[in-house]
Amino acid sequence: MSSSRTDPTGGARTIVVGVTGGIAAYKAVSVIRSLVLLGHDVSVIATEAALRFVGKPTLEAISRNPVNVDLYEGVSEVRHVSIGQSADVIVIAPATANTIAKLAAGIADDLLGNTVLASTAPVVLAPAMHTEMWGNAATVANVARLRERGMTIVGPGVGQLTGSDSGAGRMSEPDEIVAAVLLALAPRDLEGRRILVTAGGTREALDPVRFLGNRSSGRQGVALAAAAAARGATVTLIGANLEVAPPPGVQTVEVVSTADLAEAVNEQAPGHDTVIMTAAVADYRPRFVAEGKIKKEDQGESLTLDLVRNPDILSDLAASKRPDQIIVGFGAETESDDEALLALARAKIARKGSDYLVVNRVGWTSGFSLPDNDVVVVDSAGDIVKTAAGSKSTVAHRILDLLVRPTSQ
Ligand code: C5P
Repeated sequence: MSSSRTDPTGGARTIVVGVTGGIAAYKAVSVIRSLVLLGHDVSVIATEAALRFVGKPTLEAISRNPVNVDLYEGVSEVRHVSIGQSADVIVIAPATANTIAKLAAGIADDLLGNTVLASTAPVVLAPAMHTEMWGNAATVANVARLRERGMTIVGPGVGQLTGSDSGAGRMSEPDEIVAAVLLALAPRDLEGRRILVTAGGTREALDPVRFLGNRSSGRQGVALAAAAAARGATVTLIGANLEVAPPPGVQTVEVVSTADLAEAVNEQAPGHDTVIMTAAVADYRPRFVAEGKIKKEDQGESLTLDLVRNPDILSDLAASKRPDQIIVGFGAETESDDEALLALARAKIARKGSDYLVVNRVGWTSGFSLPDNDVVVVDSAGDIVKTAAGSKSTVAHRILDLLVRPTSQ
């Protein structure tokens, strides 16, 4: 299957998307499309009711596979068993109150119900229904029962419903559902690990209203924190002026300046076995921070800033690390030549003393704020140990692959 992106969890997987009969079925099309674009093989099972809301040709075109509906079609292939067995994950979006009730009772009166019963794959449900139906004691009990059995329930959100009213019951947005599916697919190979990630860019105050900063959005660091949590690690994120929301389930500490970041890192690092310094840290700060706003009337035609060096948090951390700790640094460079970039990376890791250095090229139009990244990772000997390109989530997973410790048999 051709795709401009790769799967962040390691290779194309087989995903069964169950679509049931709710108006939110139109949003299932976006879920399917995102999963296909991530490189997965997506097989749709629609209920008869779902096809009243969204057409089979749409689901087939977007999933790039035939859509299965009828339990009595392809009986010789024992389709409900074969689809269920091949699934790496089953996601049902939207999951109506009726489908949830049937799943809770183990009823298999259609292809989707049979497939879920015949599968051992993780199941993700995105409920969508009216507020009263979601709050009904029967639904509450059914959802609790499915949770107990290990199914993941995403949402529902609170917001505008199909009619003019709003409340709880609105299906979660496609991105959230896709994230839950990827989470269900992720290997749990970082369980027991404690990983500290710094993300974003520090700001050094000039006066009460101005600062010296950089263009780091925090996307790569947040993707690393999310991916590490998905793979079972306990994650702390130190976020410096993040432009994106921190991932759920990750303890987050907010900082502004390099001094704040240094304080937070020094406090947190001892409690973690791995520290990933993704944050773009200001190398210099103003020697003096003006008490009041700096005014051009007082400065005239030019203004000279007096800057002093900030401590290098990464070098200090690497110099004082415990033998069991792994320290990963990041280096953003504007060098365009590959060999010269590698030479810079080797010099930097020698200077910093970290175990790994992730190097990426940045420029006016690359690196910061963009959804994709392209990195080379060198180890302390200066050897290239990984190259990765794709979404920041993909790159995060490939970096984390380096940190997995072999299991003792
Ligand atoms: O030297 P450079 O700024 O390129 O190094 C980048 C790496 O060092 C990043 O991992 C960044 O978080 C870290 N760093 C730091 N303290 C500084 C400057 C950078 O920890 N003052």
